[in-house]
Amino acid sequence: MEILTTLRQIREKIPPKGSRPRPVSLVPTMGALHAGHQSLVERAVREDGQVIATVFVNPLQFGPKEDFNRYPSTREEDIALLEKAGAEWVYFPDPSELLPGPIHFRITHPVAELYCGAFRPGHFSGVLTIVSKFFHLINPDRAYFGMKDRQQLFLISRLARELSFPVEIRPVETVREPDGLAMSSRNRYLSPEDRKHAPELYRMLLQARDRYAPRSHADRLDLPSRIEAQMKERGFRPEYVSFVHPETFLPLSSDDPPGAATILLTAAWLGQTRLIDNIDIPGTHV
Ligand code: PAJ
Repeated sequence: MEILTTLRQIREKIPPKGSRPRPVSLVPTMGALHAGHQSLVERAVREDGQVIATVFVNPLQFGPKEDFNRYPSTREEDIALLEKAGAEWVYFPDPSELLPGPIHFRITHPVAELYCGAFRPGHFSGVLTIVSKFFHLINPDRAYFGMKDRQQLFLISRLARELSFPVEIRPVETVREPDGLAMSSRNRYLSPEDRKHAPELYRMLLQARDRYAPRSHADRLDLPSRIEAQMKERGFRPEYVSFVHPETFLPLSSDDPPGAATILLTAAWLGQTRLIDNIDIPGTHV
């Protein structure tokens, strides 16, 4: 695996479209890598890609009071993980080269203001801006994103489609700890006590999925507020719990057909740690 740090190296090492022996597959990350990131790289390799992973803690997507300055960094371990997973290149951008000055352009989308976006103003436009840069600098054939960050995945799919980036976005299932907690670089912020409680978040989503079908339409639409109440009882501080339309990512409403397929999406604080998770709920005819 080659370690790249400059744009010149990117230009020299990544073959241009048309002369690539295999598809170039991009896996963007912020480092502090875990088995979730690893599964993205392994999928891309299995699907015959020549993988370029990027490791960059993107300042554009952090709010002023967020954890940019203490975001975990495990560079040596990251390199070992990427090498083992079969990446061809890893790009650690030099921040002063990738972001030489302030960026005033803002890529945004109505859905960027909802759910996580409502609590993290500017977050998704920061994500979309840096991902656009990677798309045009690297020009990958494919890019892999995790379903754990479901709203991000939706927005990046739309970014590629609406702005005609010639890249195919491939989603990858959420990798979980054995007790169900979705893997995240931020899980290391959890105290031992909170770590024990954290998997309850996913258990509540599983329970809600099982309760969805047997209920009446009105009762179903009421589920998110009940889950919020349940979360609070269990020591979580929910930001939102929402049913989301899988195609438009807009909130499901009473106008949608009863029993429509949906995504249950949530963010909640446990102690000092913000957790996010989601689950697909299949449509029902009941
Ligand atoms: P980061 O949080 O490091 O995640 C990088 C990629 O790994 C994202 O596509 C994310 O969805 C995926 N991922 C994280 N945890 C996962 C898990 N448990 N299972 C499966 N995939 C998982 O997301 C970002 O970085 C940034 O916003 C980025 C896209 C790199 C732009 O800066």
